[in-house]
Amino acid sequence: MKVIWNNEIVERSEVKIDMEDRGYQFADGIYDVVRAYNGKFFTLDEHVDRLFSSAEKIELILPFTKEELKQLLSKLIQVNEIDTGNVYMQLTRGIGIPRNHSYPDPELVPPVFTATTTLVPRDQIKMDQGMSAIIVPDLRWLRCDIKSTSLLGNIMAKHEAHKKGGDEAILHRDGVVTECSSSNVWMIKNDVIYTHPDGNLVLPGITKLMLLKVARKAGIPVKEEAFTLENLKEADEVFASSTTMEAMPITFIDGNPVGQGKRGSGVERLQQLYVDAVEEVCGKIR
Ligand SMILES: Cc1ncc(COP(=O)(O)O)c(C=O)c1O
Repeated sequence: MKVIWNNEIVERSEVKIDMEDRGYQFADGIYDVVRAYNGKFFTLDEHVDRLFSSAEKIELILPFTKEELKQLLSKLIQVNEIDTGNVYMQLTRGIGIPRNHSYPDPELVPPVFTATTTLVPRDQIKMDQGMSAIIVPDLRWLRCDIKSTSLLGNIMAKHEAHKKGGDEAILHRDGVVTECSSSNVWMIKNDVIYTHPDGNLVLPGITKLMLLKVARKAGIPVKEEAFTLENLKEADEVFASSTTMEAMPITFIDGNPVGQGKRGSGVERLQQLYVDAVEEVCGKIR
């Protein structure tokens, strides 16, 4: 399998990452994940913009322009023959010797970029049936808007959910729902769709952005407003969104059914609108 290493496409086995890489030492890095359908990227511009924005927030400079990166990524999915799958890209602050918390001089220490591909088919059964979630306190830091490789808080939350038999963790801060461990979270009440506004407490999800766009275009009422665990209990429908899951119904929370305990018509409509948007760019996927 080929990968991107800095600004070249190479065999995976050729990549050498130094043990003093600050990504390895401090999780001093950022990443992004973009999805392709039928060999064509969906929302590549948005993902590349978010990668550059995360980099800027931690004063990292990418070793190429957005255009150059998009060309490299397109070449990568071609050579790896990715039909429906994900591209994971990561940028770290490079090799810092001796180990020191302070940022090294970027003139002396170049960042390290890698990108890999994985074939990931759409999970239509799961999207029809939905998944279960467990409520877990949001113990993460206060810059969740940065897509940082430092994911321990997210990993611990998901592990907590898995131990209790859930697929995903719904996170809350003092009773206010923020997002899930690896997705944004939404609820529908009386035909109005709610999700936490962007800001420092959640990742500005690209799927969230697209769902807001298609919902508004279709005249569905949406409110980017925080909601509480109490509101969640009373919700008609709950769902999560991410690049890989698209709009995924959450049908059980802490073992209790949401509504009827099956996918509701609100999220089903959003799933269709999302797929319409994908098909406009990438061709038929259903
Ligand atoms: C914490 C978190 N929130 C939200 C998302 C959804 O973002 P996107 O829709 O851009 O994949 C992700 C995706 O990985 C995530 O890790």
